[in-house]
Amino acid sequence: MRRLMVTGGAGFIGSNFVRYMLGKYPDTFILVYDKLTYAGRMENLEDVAEAFAGRYTFVQGDICNMAAVDSAVQTYAIDTIVNFAAETHVDRSLMEPGSFIQTDVYGTFVLLEAAKKFNLERYHQISTDEVYGQVLTGRSTEKDQLEPRSPYAASKTSGDLMVLAYWESWKLPVTITRGSNNVGPYQYPEKVVPLFATNAIDNQALPVYGDGLQMRDYQYVLDHCEGIDMVLHRGALGQIYNVGTGEEMTNIEMTKLVLATLGKPESLIKHVEDRAGHDRRYALDVSKLRALGWESRHSCAQAVEKTVRWYAENEHWWRPIKSGALYKEYYAQQYGKRLSE
Ligand code: NAD
Ligand code: TYD
Repeated sequence: MRRLMVTGGAGFIGSNFVRYMLGKYPDTFILVYDKLTYAGRMENLEDVAEAFAGRYTFVQGDICNMAAVDSAVQTYAIDTIVNFAAETHVDRSLMEPGSFIQTDVYGTFVLLEAAKKFNLERYHQISTDEVYGQVLTGRSTEKDQLEPRSPYAASKTSGDLMVLAYWESWKLPVTITRGSNNVGPYQYPEKVVPLFATNAIDNQALPVYGDGLQMRDYQYVLDHCEGIDMVLHRGALGQIYNVGTGEEMTNIEMTKLVLATLGKPESLIKHVEDRAGHDRRYALDVSKLRALGWESRHSCAQAVEKTVRWYAENEHWWRPIKSGALYKEYYAQQYGKRLSE
């Protein structure tokens, strides 16, 4: 696995993964293949292009475009696909599910076809704890039943099932990781931690959905990247591995931590209308990945604090996003009515 095609590599986790892998493995070449949707940004990879020139290249393309995918795989003699490309935000999937089905399901199929056609050494799928649905007690293991509840989660689940079908049917060498909520540098400020951190910096309200007692496992993005790396190198083919801290915190605890880190008052908290079908709790059992020798380096609280500090120190990255017309339109649609009530 020396020549990787990282699809969705201009997004949040993908760009962190590319930087991590090129830094760790001096003999690795990476092609980032990304459509550059609202969530994909060349700025996320600016330093990578400079630091690793010669071992890194970028192609703008859609994973749903079979001819373009095939051409990229052949042109760059790719031996491994790591697929991060997806529509990723639950709230957007409630507004317009179609693009989720297109990219997260059909796009996954196109990449699997390429992996099969060109006999790649590995196809790795980046998946999510949301495929298990809400887990009110206990922790999800990789063998648990899949009970996705949002259009996003249902699309990701379908992608996973297609990956497993290629393993069962043709023994395509696949692996899957299912990560919990990631936080860290370069996360688009629609997801809760960067949204709350940047709102708080600007003394704007923090819109907490419902009672704020929902629970999430916020893991630091580089811990997730290390987990993926571990599965690429030591994971068994056809297997699924959960990746997370193995602990959770409520949204209100996370919100108060964001405010405390920035020295901002709790009066900025505003409880607003809940998300439709809001999953109450996700919780992962990560013992299968731990057994390979991986360990999370940050607790949820450390991950959130470190992330908030990054946003405080990198306004040049997020201010242009938040002041753009596209973002403002999304914010008004998602929060306008909620915040005025
Ligand atoms: P992101 O939204 O920041 O980035 C997604 C990237 O995919 C963007 O660069 C975008 O341009 C690209 N993309 C979208 N549609 C595409 C298409 N049709 N063709 C090519 N590129 C396309 O997402 P992220 O948070 O970095 O998530 C990456 C992956 O990790 C996703 O598969 C997501 O489901 C999964 N995941 C995310 C989290 C999380 O907390 N963010 C947790 C677990 C799993
Ligand atoms: P999010 O970052 O959208 O991730 P996911 O829904 O994929 O877990 O949301 C994390 C949690 O924060 C989730 O319980 C919903 C909640 N949330 C809010 O309370 N307010 C917000 O404005 C957002 C975006 C999320």
